Amino acid sequence: MTTAPWWTHGTIYQIYPRSFQDSDGDGVGDLEGIRRRLDHLEDLGVDALWLSPIFVSPMRDFGYDIADYRAVDPVFGRMEDLEALLRDAHARGLRVILDLVPNHTSDQHAWFKDSRSSRQAAKRDWYIWRDPAPDGGPPNNWLSEFGGSAWAFDEATGQYYYHAFLESQPDLNWRNPAVCEAITDVMRFWLDKGVDGFRIDVLWHLMKDESFRDNPVNPHWREGGPPTDRLVKLYTTDLPEMETVIRRLRETVEPYGDRVLIGEIYLPTERLMRYYGTENDGVHLPFNFALIDAAWDARHIHRMIEDYEQALPPGGWPNWVTGNHDKPRIATRIGPAQARVAAVLLLTLRGTPTIYYGEEIGMEHAVFDDATALDPFARQVPGFGLGRDGARTPMQWEPGPNAGFGAGTPWLPVSRTDEAATVAGQRDDPASMLSLYRRLLALRRTRKAFTEGRYQGLAAEGGLLLYLREAGDERFLVALNLGAVPVSVSLTGPVSAGRIVLSAKPGREDEAIAGSLTIDGDDALVVALDPAG
Ligand code: GLC
Ligand code: MG
Repeated sequence: MTTAPWWTHGTIYQIYPRSFQDSDGDGVGDLEGIRRRLDHLEDLGVDALWLSPIFVSPMRDFGYDIADYRAVDPVFGRMEDLEALLRDAHARGLRVILDLVPNHTSDQHAWFKDSRSSRQAAKRDWYIWRDPAPDGGPPNNWLSEFGGSAWAFDEATGQYYYHAFLESQPDLNWRNPAVCEAITDVMRFWLDKGVDGFRIDVLWHLMKDESFRDNPVNPHWREGGPPTDRLVKLYTTDLPEMETVIRRLRETVEPYGDRVLIGEIYLPTERLMRYYGTENDGVHLPFNFALIDAAWDARHIHRMIEDYEQALPPGGWPNWVTGNHDKPRIATRIGPAQARVAAVLLLTLRGTPTIYYGEEIGMEHAVFDDATALDPFARQVPGFGLGRDGARTPMQWEPGPNAGFGAGTPWLPVSRTDEAATVAGQRDDPASMLSLYRRLLALRRTRKAFTEGRYQGLAAEGGLLLYLREAGDERFLVALNLGAVPVSVSLTGPVSAGRIVLSAKPGREDEAIAGSLTIDGDDALVVALDPAG
């Protein structure tokens, strides 16, 4: 029996609802579609699903622009569909995590409509309004993540409002206690319905400088680089005042027991740690995105793991991610062969893994033209490969029309419909990516060395990354080859002998090991070590 919270030993699976399963033929995935696919998640062996936003939205940013936090967008279904999904997921022991977007709303939200109605409006101060600069231009130099100034002029009231993302995504004013009250009310609304936690969108953006100082020029920016990186986001992100905000969010979930808060935070490791709170009073899992764009090099990754483990505060639980709806898919970034190695890494490191839908079948990043992309980021900041449509193509379920995604024309084209690229085609193939994920997840479920166990880095040279996971008398050696040529390592002392329990490339399971280990190119091995001494 374990008393550790479920999210420390569980695995999270991110669903991008538009792209998972369409049940009504409108070409857009929906909640009923997800409910019908719970078999897959159960069979895969994950513990929780996180749904990207499913709330009422004009969909300028595909749901990250919310017009009503308490209602399901009709394209995804009705409230009853969400309740049915919660019920069925829970009946299978699967938790459900919703996406909380507290930094900004849609400009169609009633709060913003009131706010922009006049300077005296009750909710004027719920958003960030400033007078024009003396020349009539924006109040300062702050830039939008999605290109151009972060300030939009409102003709009717003669002021600018701040938007870190799209002009249609005005930022809420978190210095106003009423905003914090309103958002924590939204949290309680969903917690009361039984959701198991929240992934919190752009958490490090919530607070902005009180005196609106200009952001400094980024000394590392070069002409020709993405214009959105021209300034250091010193006064618009990661402010010290975040500490009180995350404490308020944590206080909100605390009375509900074992619910989880996961923060979306793109910051260097040392700055990420503040989001755990000062005394375990912050978010439970500040997303660790170190792997998401890490150079695929054994020494580098070894260092990164060590740095992260070292930086964790007392009681801070680690987590790892290889992909999400904003980033290039891992199978394309490092290639399909190494994506298998990445799967072994993700699921054998110490900490909670998050799998992005489709990773378990090796889905690749699809190619889209920035000019015609649906993603506003691609269209507004073209030419830098930043477009996100490629990571959001429909899930590939079975060979045939639309790969089983749905009867209507999918909102984004399906990448592959051939059998080998689908869940159905991989299910009974022991050599498939899906089988590898299932075996890895089964290992995590049955061997506490992988969930509760210690991590100890042993070696990183050439393509080889070698580490130990151990709990009590369970001891596992994980040997990854991040390169294409075979590597060998000699094994001595307490790690000299054992038996292979899993190989990324099929065929080496059950092999006995003594004194040395050779790992084929693009392979990864998990070795159950013989008892020490
Ligand atoms: C987060 C989301 C991203 C969205 C942005 C603005 O980064 O993951 O998809 O565009 O916030 O809401
Ligand atoms: Mg639909």
